[in-house]
Parts: sequence; C-alpha cells; structure tokens
Amino acid sequence: MSVTHTLGLLDKLENQIQQLLERNISRNEKLFAICELLADEIAIFDWVGFYFVADDAIDELVLGPFVGEPTNHTRIPFGKGICGQVALSHKTFVSQDVTAEDNYLACSINVKSEIVVPIMVGDKFVAQLDIDSNTKNSITLEHRKALNNICKMLSSEFQ
Ligand code: SME
Repeated sequence: MSVTHTLGLLDKLENQIQQLLERNISRNEKLFAICELLADEIAIFDWVGFYFVADDAIDELVLGPFVGEPTNHTRIPFGKGICGQVALSHKTFVSQDVTAEDNYLACSINVKSEIVVPIMVGDKFVAQLDIDSNTKNSITLEHRKALNNICKMLSSEFQ
C-alpha cells in the first residue's frame, strides 16, 4: 500500500527557508526574503520583521529587516512591550488580543494579535522575529511551531 504524503503550507515554507539560508547572500538579505515569504504566504501575517540586540547597548533591541507599515519602534528597551519582554524571558510570546496587554507598544491601531519568537545562540539571546496580525485570535499552534522551528534554523546566521 502506498502512502501519499502531502506537505502542508508551513512545512513547505520551512523547506523554502532552509533553501534560502543556503544561498550566498547577506544575512539581512536572507532575513528580508523570509519576511516577504511569510507575509506573502500567510494571509493573516500583516507585519513581519526582525529585531536584533543592539551593538551599542546591551539592553536594547534595534529594528532589522521588515515588511509592512513603517514603525516608530525602531529601538525598544529590554522589558518594554511584547518585544522587550521576550528579550528578557527568551520565550515565545503570543497575544491573541493586544488590547488585553498591559505592557504593549502599539505600532498601528489595526494590529490585533502578535507573536514574538526569540532567536538564541545556545543560551545567548541575539534577535527575535516579530509578527503582527490585523485579525484577533489568529495565531495558531501550527504557526507557533513553524515559527519556533524557523527561528532555530536562523540561530546559525548569528554565530
Ligand atoms: N508591538 C510590539 C512593538 C513592535 S511593533 O509591533 C513592530 C511590542 O509591543 O513590543
């Protein structure tokens, strides 16, 4: 009996990202291409971007490649907002309704849900992937698992 294995969209995205990471382009070009891929392929992802630990301050994030509306939050102190909290906790943070957050930095009044996933090199926090959705309750467990995998794949880019 033959078994037909159909890859889901998120598996396909993980494969595409793996191929992209093998290309001979700069880290920021790879990260920007990943932002474009995620924003294009997943309808509810409206803003996709990376924040890095700043070179000139150990407790601040600085905005890296992103797609979507420009944001005022180009630097975020550790502890501030969802991004700043993840910089301290090193744990993925999902908010299905950002209006319920008491420590939140609004980029746009349209944003309703958000996921932030840390990128670690061993025990060291180096960057994070931040995704905003204009739809409430839209971040699924599958999104979370795929984004966690993608951020693990990205660790080698920061070594
Ligand atoms: N909402 C984030 C700020 C970053 S923007 O979403 C691009 C936060 O609360 O940290």
